[in-house]
Amino acid sequence: MIETLNIEVQKVEKSKISSVDFNDLPFGKVFSDHMLVAEYSDGEWKNINIKPYAPIEFTPAVAALHYGQSIFEGLKAFKNEQGEAVIFRPEANFERFNISAERMCMPTVPEEIFMKGMAQLIELDNNWIPNKPDCALYIRPFMFSTDEYIGVRPSAKYTFIVFTCPVGAYYSKSVKVKFETTYSRSCPGGIGYAKAAANYGASMYPAMLAQQQGFDQVIWTDSSSHEFIEESGVMNVMFVIDGKLVTPPAKDTILKGITRDSVLTIAREWGLTVEERPVAVSEVVQAIEEGRLTEAFGVGTAATISQIAQITNGDKDYILPDPAGRDFSNKVHKHLDAIKSGTVADTHGWIYKV
Ligand code: COI
Repeated sequence: MIETLNIEVQKVEKSKISSVDFNDLPFGKVFSDHMLVAEYSDGEWKNINIKPYAPIEFTPAVAALHYGQSIFEGLKAFKNEQGEAVIFRPEANFERFNISAERMCMPTVPEEIFMKGMAQLIELDNNWIPNKPDCALYIRPFMFSTDEYIGVRPSAKYTFIVFTCPVGAYYSKSVKVKFETTYSRSCPGGIGYAKAAANYGASMYPAMLAQQQGFDQVIWTDSSSHEFIEESGVMNVMFVIDGKLVTPPAKDTILKGITRDSVLTIAREWGLTVEERPVAVSEVVQAIEEGRLTEAFGVGTAATISQIAQITNGDKDYILPDPAGRDFSNKVHKHLDAIKSGTVADTHGWIYKV
């Protein structure tokens, strides 16, 4: 239980919740009643309030739109078996948010605003948390620069907002991906490890080209040789090869996924050999051809565990083993769900009760 942060709360006059079909939730299109807003200027955070979710106003010269100082996070709230609202690993998102802020030359957000403000928001919109398998209340904290100035320099003013969306699965079925060997998502020394809006903006053109070819997403490869796997569009990637769980290391070009960390932690506890090391496209292709690759999947907050059904390398399509029969990824998916619902013990302190 958190203490209530001293913030002004303006509630909606009438909730929109009765207009929402909780049996048919798309990802990211339905927004709950309220949002948390805080502003930064003169070196401090101020005007912290919760208000109805609604359009916000800014001038055409607002810095974020021109130079991209904009970062975000994604996390999820669930209802546990007792019907209590819980958030999965919010401290990890808080930490990563401020790592992104530093890289993008933005102020850090104090823990009190991020954690307590968010918890108070979830408490208020607690009835928006879906209570169905594969559904959650997706929480989107983000921050952007708000100086009215078009010279290129870090802004002096920022807005931090948290809003929430009841969501269903990001991918409703197994995905088809291709190794991307022309375009790059990030490069050493760049911003790949930050959850910066710019990373996603830059990924859209290659992802669109891949979608035009019938793929759901790309798997990025390193920017210099294009021989080593990095991550997929909205998730980190993992493979089971020769019975070992193999994934690229979370370095400066790869987002340090929180679901990634949770899955690796559980795998190690289950006694699986885990290898966080460079993974070559050629290694994966050879393992598929020799029948030694038994699982390939993406991991992310929005994507949870998304099975990869097909990988294409150049002009060669590889149909992977049937997702329904994959041992580790299906078992870890269920285990994570059970931790969230409270039916298995939360031995890592990952569950934050609102
Ligand atoms: C998340 O998994 O929370 C993400 O940030 C992916 C998002 C871009 C949909």
